[in-house]
Amino acid sequence: MSNSSEAELLHTFKGIPFTTRSSPELLKSLDTFDAREDDVLLVSYPKSGTHWLAGVITKLYNTQVTLTSPIEFGDISQLEKLNKLSSKRIIPTHLDYNMLPPNFKNKKCKMIYISRNPKDTAVSMFHYYRDNPNLPTVDSWTTFFDLFLKGNVVCGSWFDHFLSWAEHEDEKNILFLFYEDMKKDLPKVVKEITLFLSLNVSDNDIQDICQKSSFSEMKNDTEKENSDPTHTVCALTSNRKLIFRKGAVGDWKNYFTPKQNIRFQEIFNEKMKLSKM
Ligand code: A3P
Repeated sequence: MSNSSEAELLHTFKGIPFTTRSSPELLKSLDTFDAREDDVLLVSYPKSGTHWLAGVITKLYNTQVTLTSPIEFGDISQLEKLNKLSSKRIIPTHLDYNMLPPNFKNKKCKMIYISRNPKDTAVSMFHYYRDNPNLPTVDSWTTFFDLFLKGNVVCGSWFDHFLSWAEHEDEKNILFLFYEDMKKDLPKVVKEITLFLSLNVSDNDIQDICQKSSFSEMKNDTEKENSDPTHTVCALTSNRKLIFRKGAVGDWKNYFTPKQNIRFQEIFNEKMKLSKM
């Protein structure tokens, strides 16, 4: 990466770059984290639609639930806060499957993995690198494109992240969702989520929730709220105003050169050939 402050902003844990907003002590102690059977995990590689999904899911419950900060966010005291919460916990995370606290796996907690066309994810992340002071700056799209393909970006390789989770696609406690499906037919995806979470939500309420979760509604709501530095859905920032950029499918076409597209496609085909998804 190209920037002098990179060393201050990033550190590597088990071969994966994290920002200093995830302390090494916290990351080390994740293995002993105590999960609860009714925890729900919202899992994603950054820039895949995490906030959108979180916005939808929290509206589905009519009982008290807490959308916590990501499990990898902050220092050890954050984990204590999570332990003390008395309500049901919806926990976001950008961790790959191998780094997830084993207790979530042993207790078969419900997990929802949201994924997005990696080309659009790359473009969205490029803007995040440019706008988010917690990430190193990159001088150009070309530079970022190479970093992304090498997995030399925060949270590591998109391919490794996706594949680590996709290996578990047959496990009944994991639901895989795609950003593009949410764009195409949000009520259908929301219905799928309610079935997975065994929630009874009427079709009318689903329609209403979908309207309230549109890009423009969520962006407007965010403009009005004050950000809480101790709470976030993405461990990389607490500033939600950085999240709602364009919300489109296919923005990659405005950035990828034909050569970059061919290179990306070759690597994609090679890396994904063993994945049934
Ligand atoms: P863009 O940068 O392409 O606009 P995450 O929440 O994982 O950080 O993902 C952020 C991406 O999801 C951003 O993509 C953001 O605009 C998009 N997004 C957030 N809310 C959305 C919504 N309600 N509808 C569509 N896209 C949304």
